[in-house]
Amino acid sequence: MRMTQTSDLWWKNAVIYCLDIETFFDADGDGVGDIAGLTERIDYLAQLGVTCLWLMPFYPTPDRDDGYDVTDYYGVDPRLGTHGDVVELIRTAKDRGMRVIADLLINHTSSEHPWFQASRASTDNPYRDYYVWRAEPPPDTSDQVIFPDEEDSIWELDERTGEWYLHHFYAHQPDLNITKAKVRDEIWKTIGFWLQLGLDGFRVDAVPYFLSDVGLSPQDKEVDDPHTYLRQMRAFLGRRHGDAILLGEVNLPHEEQRKYFGDNGGDQLHMMFDFIAMQKTYLSLAREDAGPLAEALTQRPAIPHDCQWATFLRNHDELTLDKLTEDERAEVFAAFGPEERMQVYGRGLKRRVPTMLDGDPRRIRMAYSLLFSLPGTPTLYYGEELGMGEDLGADGRMAVRTPMQWSDGENGGFSTAPPDRLVGQVVDGGYGPKHVNAAAQMRDADSLWNFVRTLVLTYRACPELGWGRLTVLDQPHTHVLAHQLSWEGSSVVALHNLSAEPVTVPLRLDVPPDSALVDLLRDGTTDLGADGAADLPLEGYGYRWLRVRRDGERQLV
Ligand code: GLC
Repeated sequence: MRMTQTSDLWWKNAVIYCLDIETFFDADGDGVGDIAGLTERIDYLAQLGVTCLWLMPFYPTPDRDDGYDVTDYYGVDPRLGTHGDVVELIRTAKDRGMRVIADLLINHTSSEHPWFQASRASTDNPYRDYYVWRAEPPPDTSDQVIFPDEEDSIWELDERTGEWYLHHFYAHQPDLNITKAKVRDEIWKTIGFWLQLGLDGFRVDAVPYFLSDVGLSPQDKEVDDPHTYLRQMRAFLGRRHGDAILLGEVNLPHEEQRKYFGDNGGDQLHMMFDFIAMQKTYLSLAREDAGPLAEALTQRPAIPHDCQWATFLRNHDELTLDKLTEDERAEVFAAFGPEERMQVYGRGLKRRVPTMLDGDPRRIRMAYSLLFSLPGTPTLYYGEELGMGEDLGADGRMAVRTPMQWSDGENGGFSTAPPDRLVGQVVDGGYGPKHVNAAAQMRDADSLWNFVRTLVLTYRACPELGWGRLTVLDQPHTHVLAHQLSWEGSSVVALHNLSAEPVTVPLRLDVPPDSALVDLLRDGTTDLGADGAADLPLEGYGYRWLRVRRDGERQLV
C-alpha cells in the first residue's frame, strides 16, 4: 500500500462527524450550545478518532428551518458566538488533527435575507434577478414539494409585485438564481471567505435543486449547462485551497449521481452521500437479507479516482426511504417505525438506529460495524456513538436534533440553564442521559462508545476500506454479507450476519498459498487452505473484519 496517497486525498478514508453547534455543548449557560462549548469538547471528538467535523449551519438566521435559512452568508449566529470563536475552534480542531467543513447553503436564502427583501421590493430592483420570478400563474406543482405537510406548491405569490417566486423547500426559503454571474460572484466570495478563515471545505446543500433550471427562461440563464457551474465552483475552491472538499447532498439514483462527480479525474463534487446504499441497508436489515445492500454496492457506477462516496446510517433529516419502492418502504416502516408518529412526510422515519433495532446491542453493533466496513468514507451524526434515542414528541425532523447527552446530570450535562430555556428538550426515558451518556461510556471498556471508537480507529488503519476495489464474495447464506476490499496488493474481508441465527460461512479466496486471515476486531488468525478456503463461524448478528496476510508479509496486523 502507498500510504502517502492517503494524506493527499484525505477525504477518501476520513471519519466525518456531523453536529449542530446549537445542541452540542452550552459553555455560557444560556440554554443554547455555542462555539466555545464545542471547542471545549474537541478532545472528546479527538478521542473518538474523528478526522473531519461537519458543522451544520451556524450563520445568522430567523431559524425557521433550524439554520438552513440564512440571512447573512458571512456572519455567525450571535447566539452561538463570533468569528473569533470560529477561528479558535478551527485552530483547536486542527491542532488535534481534525479538519472542519461546514454547510454551504446556496440553493436558497431566508426570505428575510436583505437580497430577497430588495428583490421583492419592485420588479426592476437590481436584486430582482438574484431570485427566480414568474409573472404567469404557476401550474400545479404539488407533486414537487419537499415538505408536503407545509407546502402545496414550489411557487409563492408575492402580493407586492403580483408575481410568483420559486422555492423548492419552504416558502420562506426563496431559491437563488445561481446562473446569474453576480449571484455566482457572491457565492465565490462566500466560499473564499470561509476558506480564508480556515475551513477545509463544505457540505453542499441540495445540489440538484440549485442546478435545476425550473422557471428560468433562456434570457434568465447566463450559464447553459448547470454542471458548468459546479465545475467552476470546484476550480475556484481548488485555486483557493488545494485540498478542500465539496461533499454534496445529491439524493438521486446512482447513475444520475455519477454526473455530479464530473469527468477528467473528477472535476465537480469530491464526495456525495450514498443515499441509495443507505436506504438499501435498512431494507437488508429489515429483511435480514444482504441482497439489496449487495446489489446497491455492486451497481454503484465507477467514479473518478479522486472522488468518494460518503456512507451513513443516520443524518439530521428524516431517515428518507424515498428511493425504495412503495412495497419496500412499507417493509422498512413495518420493521423499524410501524406507528404513524414514527413516520414523516410519507417517506421517512423520525427514529435513530438503536430504537429502530429495539435496543438490541448485538444488532446495533453489527449495524455500525457494517457501516464502517462499507467501501467509502463513514459519516456519524452526533450521539450515534452513544446510542442516543429520539424525541418522538418533537416536530418532524427535530426528533433527532435533541441536546447531546454528556452526563447523567441536569440537562444531560448539556447546559446549566433551567430546562425550559434549552434550545431543545433532552430525551427522557430509557434512552435519556441517566442511561445513555458520554461520561459513563468513555470509562466503560464494553460500552458502545468504546466499540465505535474501535471501529473508527480500525477503519483508519485499513485504507483498503476507503480506497479498495469491492468484491461481494460468494457464500451460501442470504442473511450474510461477505465482502472484500482490495487495494494495492492488500485486502480486508468483512462478514456481517444480519440474522439472529449463528452460521458458518465457507469462503474461498483467490490468494497465494499459505495466506491467513487475521481478525482485526478481536484476537484470532485463521489459516487459509492451499485453495484459499476457510470456514468462518459467525454468531447471531455477528461481524468480523479480517485482513488477508500473505506468507512472509510484514503488516503489523
Ligand atoms: C437539506 C438539509 C435540510 C434542509 C434543506 C433545506 O435537505 O439537509 O435539513 O431543511 O436542505 O435547506
